[in-house]
Amino acid sequence: MGDAWAAVTGAERRTLADLFKAEPDRLSRFTVEEAGIRFDFAKTHLDQGLLDGFAALAEAQNLTGARDALFSGEKINVTEGRAAEHTAERGQGAPESVQRAQMLHSRMRALIDAIEAGAFGDIAHVLHIGIGGSALGPEFLIDALGRDAGRYDMAVVSNVDGAALEEALSRFDPTATLIVIASKTFTTSETMLNANSALDWLEEGGVDDPYGRVIALTASPEKAIEFGIDETRILPFSETVGGRYSLWSSIGFPVALALGWGGFEELLEGAAAMDRHFRLAPTLRNAPVLAAFVDRYYANVRGAETRGVFAYDERLRLLPSYLQQLEMESNGKSVTIAGEPVGRATSAITWGGVGTDAQHAVFQLLHQGTHLVPVEFLAVVEPDHAFTEEHHRQLLINCFAQGAALMAGKQADDPARSYSGDRPSTTLLLDRLDPSRLGALIAFYEHRTFVNAVLLGINPFDQFGVELGKEMAKAIDTPGALQFDPSTKALIERALGAVA
Ligand code: F6P
Repeated sequence: MGDAWAAVTGAERRTLADLFKAEPDRLSRFTVEEAGIRFDFAKTHLDQGLLDGFAALAEAQNLTGARDALFSGEKINVTEGRAAEHTAERGQGAPESVQRAQMLHSRMRALIDAIEAGAFGDIAHVLHIGIGGSALGPEFLIDALGRDAGRYDMAVVSNVDGAALEEALSRFDPTATLIVIASKTFTTSETMLNANSALDWLEEGGVDDPYGRVIALTASPEKAIEFGIDETRILPFSETVGGRYSLWSSIGFPVALALGWGGFEELLEGAAAMDRHFRLAPTLRNAPVLAAFVDRYYANVRGAETRGVFAYDERLRLLPSYLQQLEMESNGKSVTIAGEPVGRATSAITWGGVGTDAQHAVFQLLHQGTHLVPVEFLAVVEPDHAFTEEHHRQLLINCFAQGAALMAGKQADDPARSYSGDRPSTTLLLDRLDPSRLGALIAFYEHRTFVNAVLLGINPFDQFGVELGKEMAKAIDTPGALQFDPSTKALIERALGAVA
């Protein structure tokens, strides 16, 4: 493996302009069209030599074997001793897991039918309570696709700050509200506190049987029963589906409610198309694999610490937050699967925003700053609003101009007005934003994250890094449990009035 890394780290560095001159077929070799999305990696510094180098690294890291193990339901999440079966939710995986996922989807569908048939009364509002993977996916999808669905007024509340719940509930009528509690473990303290407060709100609002208005989405149904929710209103999903990979499972319930079952199925089918592409396309025509090569090149060869994601589409404004969890919780690790120090940079820090707004805020640094930031642009060919076409034309013009400007740069006599250029970007162009394309896009990001992990030799499916903070919070809540440092102790005393 050392040699394979040496081949990519030691490769000759050429400018983007040189690469376009030297490789006349560059555009076709660095562009992949799949599932209604054009993936353009041409404005990155990868050349044929680097592609071959990364392909050799992928082979040395047994990417093919790792991918087969993912799709066949092997226990690749070794630290937690389980498989990672999110693809089974979209019909791509071990037959028994696919069957189980389909059975659980049928339960989901039946409950949606019951809600639509009025089994819960006249429901106008849906409050989805969850955090991390139990909130970010549903929130992103509802925001991106559910805007015009108009089926229910929905809110997703994750923060334990009561202000979040207060804001959401202020526009809801308790007698017409359904509460959805989403938690894989059904122990997450923020979610449980928000759930209890929402139940109190229902009761105070005159609902006779508040628990009868609650639906639980969980891989721990026994905990939901203990909490007081009737089994008929619990939608389980498999323990082998990781939290940040769970929007395809019953965690996607509010999405299915917002889009209708047909829309949810299209989402799954779009993801399945990307699964098939990832499984079957050759390495150098494989979008998630090429994207991961780009990621590793900038992180490990050029020392880029971050990756900027800018969607030129208001509907995708929550994409950066969704990707932050997917990429940083998956690959923000320091040890390999074997427990050895990984020895090179792992996940980049994912950040971003929406175009064109970001142009007037952070793009100064992208064009003239001292940090190398590989940028990812996303755009959608078809608009979806009632205003003149000029809005969308301007949006797309701006998106393409930014990528071109980053690459071309511009020299001026005044250094303050000069642009170095040669700054890399990738562009993902969706022909339209519908459940199928968005499913494919999210599956692309999942597989890209997986390939990054395989190249690094790390496990992307655990997240022990989040545990220590949770333990410390418990210790603060249990006076005397732990001796805190003077700074923390003073803060606790000042704000909470108790000495830990
Ligand atoms: O604290 C991190 C985490 O475990 C995430 O991985 C997960 O998505 C989130 O918390 C929520 O967990 P749960 O779905 O069990 O409430």
